[in-house]
Amino acid sequence: MLRALLLENIHPDAVAILEAAGIEVETRPGALDESELIETLADFHILGIRSKTQVTRRVIEASPGLLAVGTFSIGTNQIDLEAAAGHGVAVFNAPFSNTRSVVELAVSEIIALTRRLTVRDKALHDGVWDKTADGSHEVRGRTLGIIGYGNIGSQLSVLAENLGMNVVFFDTSEKLALGNARRVETLGELLEVSDTVTIHVDGRAGNAGLFGDDLFARMKPGAIFLNLSRGFVVDVEALREHILSGHLSGAAVDVFPTEPKKRGDHFESPLRGLDNVILTPHVGGSTEEAQQNIGLFVAKKLRDYLLTGSTTLSVNLPNLQLEHTGVGRIALLHRNVPGVLAAVNQVFADHGANIEAQMLATHGELGYVVTDISDVTHRGASSKLMAMDTTVRLRIRDAFDRPEFPPGPAAH
Ligand SMILES: NC(=O)c1ccc[n+]([C@@H]2O[C@H](COP(=O)([O-])OP(=O)(O)OC[C@H]3O[C@@H](n4cnc5c(N)ncnc54)[C@H](O)[C@@H]3O)[C@@H](O)[C@H]2O)c1
Repeated sequence: MLRALLLENIHPDAVAILEAAGIEVETRPGALDESELIETLADFHILGIRSKTQVTRRVIEASPGLLAVGTFSIGTNQIDLEAAAGHGVAVFNAPFSNTRSVVELAVSEIIALTRRLTVRDKALHDGVWDKTADGSHEVRGRTLGIIGYGNIGSQLSVLAENLGMNVVFFDTSEKLALGNARRVETLGELLEVSDTVTIHVDGRAGNAGLFGDDLFARMKPGAIFLNLSRGFVVDVEALREHILSGHLSGAAVDVFPTEPKKRGDHFESPLRGLDNVILTPHVGGSTEEAQQNIGLFVAKKLRDYLLTGSTTLSVNLPNLQLEHTGVGRIALLHRNVPGVLAAVNQVFADHGANIEAQMLATHGELGYVVTDISDVTHRGASSKLMAMDTTVRLRIRDAFDRPEFPPGPAAH
């Protein structure tokens, strides 16, 4: 029986999905360190983690029975993806399960800052009745400039337009403009027209220090700035200066160049204590709904990989979207070198197998060929496929005896 180990308090819906697929699930609340993980994984085929468990090359190499790892998070930095791919371990994450949560936080902050809500709130808590319209605006009719029009940026674009905002965006890739949003060709053009500038770029290394003093200086006087993407993208000292000088009228920051490790730790930042600046502890994607969505999303990807061999949205294996066909299936992950497919099909031909369907995808140095053959287990081709020096992992599903791929070790 296939067994899954889910660490770090993964949402119970993930357990339900895996158990419904006939997988035995064990859950543990905390993370495991490297040696504990190696020892524990000997009994499991699937590992589920969040951000604290490190799946190193050593862990992968010491766990030949491991078939797949689900990171119930957006990032995959905690896994050695190359080592996992090299040993035929599929890795799945949840790239957009918390998109809506980030977008809703951004919308709420745009309205709160444009209305100077935090200033009024603080004054009243301090016992001051500051009843004034000074500096408070509706967002309707104002222009939102979105830098990075990916999952989050484009979703924010839709909601902002529904609030009556005009949307412009800048993205380094070609992107479809949603609704009436208008693409601009340069960052400068975006900064010139935007009453609010919000950053939603990804965490590629080239984005370090993307937004500094020069770009803040080009923003409209009284404009508002948001960063809910990555901390290293923005120069927070420069942001502080532009808030203190009154050039910018407010900011919301959810991500910081250095962030405390755990809940309850002390937080230091040049942005603390500034007027009309909302600081949140990297909670853009942290809602109960997002946790549930992540649990469901990743568990379904793991289930589908185990039952059908489907690698859709795997971050490290060639992607093939596969359905149940009711016939036997041979899923071969191999080194992507010329002639592999011909050699594989020669093995099938030598055994008189009638191929009903075959799909191939490649990704860098890896290839994934999935072949449907009805009476798969009776032909004995598997030992020849396992012996090929290009084979990374072979999984065979018998249509009649087993609904799922049985656990099998990596070849090399
Ligand atoms: N605050 C949180 O809790 C939280 C939660 C989820 C995601 N995030 C972060 O939000 C960001 C966006 O996430 P996403 O899912 O929308 O990512 P995404 O990959 O879908 O979109 C990023 C977009 O930015 C564009 N881009 C990259 N560099 C750029 C640049 N220099 N100038 C203009 N465009 C650029 C890309 O072409 C892409 O369209 C990521 O950095 C992610 O880590 C934060």
